[in-house]
Amino acid sequence: MDVFRIEGPVRLCGSVRINGSKNASLPIMAAAILSAGKSVLKGVPNLSDISVFGELLRQLGCRLSKTPAGDLHIDSTVINNPVGEYEIVRRMRASICILGPLLARCGRAEVSMPGGCAIGDRPVDIHLRGLKQLGVRINLKNGYIVAEAPHGLTGRDIFLGGPFGSTVLGTANVLMAATLAKGRTIIESAACEPEIAHLANCLNKMGAKITGIGSPKLTIEGVKQLQPGEFEVIPDRIEAGTFMAAAAITKGELKLENCQLEDMMAVVDKLRNIGVTVESAGDGCVVSRTGSMTPIDVTTQPYPGFPTDLQAQFMALLALAEGNSIIIEKVFPDRFMHVAELNRMAANLRKEGPTVIVAGVKKLIAAPVMASDLRASAALVLAGLAAEGTTVVNRVYHIDRGYERIEERLNPLGAKISRESV
Ligand code: EPZ
Repeated sequence: MDVFRIEGPVRLCGSVRINGSKNASLPIMAAAILSAGKSVLKGVPNLSDISVFGELLRQLGCRLSKTPAGDLHIDSTVINNPVGEYEIVRRMRASICILGPLLARCGRAEVSMPGGCAIGDRPVDIHLRGLKQLGVRINLKNGYIVAEAPHGLTGRDIFLGGPFGSTVLGTANVLMAATLAKGRTIIESAACEPEIAHLANCLNKMGAKITGIGSPKLTIEGVKQLQPGEFEVIPDRIEAGTFMAAAAITKGELKLENCQLEDMMAVVDKLRNIGVTVESAGDGCVVSRTGSMTPIDVTTQPYPGFPTDLQAQFMALLALAEGNSIIIEKVFPDRFMHVAELNRMAANLRKEGPTVIVAGVKKLIAAPVMASDLRASAALVLAGLAAEGTTVVNRVYHIDRGYERIEERLNPLGAKISRESV
C-alpha cells in the first residue's frame, strides 16, 4: 500500500503535458467489441483502470497488446465469453459499458451488477431502461445482469434523462448498441460530454451513422456491420483541470500542453472569477496566480456545466480564498468524502446536504489524511502542496486509477512528493 509524503508549501512552475483521457479511453475500448478485427488506440494513458478494462476485454475473448510507442491494439475477432465477471466489475464500475456492445455483437451478455461506490449511489437503471427499449430482455440473477436480444436490436425513440440529468456511460451503452440495431434510434437527453462526442466520432469512423453529435439529441441509423478503426484519444480535461488548480493553489505558473480549452469553458470561467489567469498558448494554455483568491459559488452539472470530477479539487482551492464560497454537488449529491479530510488540514468546511460552505482560511496545515476515491485523493494532494509541513496521503492507489505517476509529473514542477510503500 503506497502513501505520499508531501512537503509544503511549494510554488509550481514549468510545463506539463496532459495525457489522453481515461474517461474517453474506456468507452472506446468497449466500442472495439462492436467490430470483428484489430482496433488501434493511440494516446491511452497508463492507468490501473485501463489495465483492469484490458483484463475485462481479454476475459471476453479479445487479445490486447501494446506497442513500444504506447499504442493499444485490441483484436476483437473472437468474442467467445460475453460475461463481465464480478471480480473485475467490482474493481471498476465503468465495466458496465461493455453491456451495449456485447448485446449488439453477440445478442446476449451477462455483466455483474456494479456495487456500492464511495462517491454515492450509482444505479444503472437508466442504462437498462434504454437497452430494454431497443428490444433487450433483462433479468437480474445472482448479482448479474442477464441480457438477451435473440432477434437482434430494433431502433426506437428513447428518452435517457434521469433524476440528475443525463448519464454519461448510460448514453455510451445505448449509443453503441443502437449502431447495429435495425432502423433508426433517437436518444433524447443524451450526455453531451466531450468523451461521448469523441466516442460517437470514433463509431462513425468504424462505419456507424450518428448525427447530432455533441447535442442532447443523437440520431443513429443502424448499420449491418462495423469495421475496426484507429483512434487518437482526446486529452484528459479533468487531469488538465487538476493541474490548473495545482498552479492556482500554489500561486504558481504552469504551461499545460495538449489541453483543449474549448472543452473546459465552465472550468476556465470559474478560475478567472477566482482571480486566476488562464491564457491560451499553443496547443494548450498558461495558468498562473499572483494575487489573493476571490470566493465564488460552484454548482456541478452535466456538461457543459461545471464537472463533478473537479468539485473536490476546487474545494481544496477555495479553502484558501478570502471569504465564503458555496459548493453545490448536483450530480453525485453525496460526493463529499474529502470534506472531513480537508478539515483535518485546518480547512473550514461545513456540509449541509448536497451543499458545502467553504469559509476561506489563511493557511492549511499538514496532517495525515485518507484518500477515499480518485478525485478526492487529487484534492488532498493539492492541499498538501499548499499546506505547511508534511502531509501524508494514505491509499494512493485511488489516485493511480486516474493520474499516471502524478508525483513524477509534479516534482519536476517544484513539488516535493515521495511515494513510499507501507
Ligand atoms: C461518468 O460516470 C464518469 N466515469 C465519472 O467520472 C463522472 O463523475 C460521471 O460520468 C459524471 O460526469 C467515466 O466516464 C468512466 P453518470 P457515470 O451515469 O457515467 C445517476 C471519475 O472520477 N444515474 O453520468 O457512471 C447517477 O447516480 C469518474 O473519473 C442514475 O440515476 O455517471 C449520477 O447521480 C467518477 N441511473 C448521475 O446519474 C443510471 O442508470 C450521473 O451519473 C445512471 C446514472
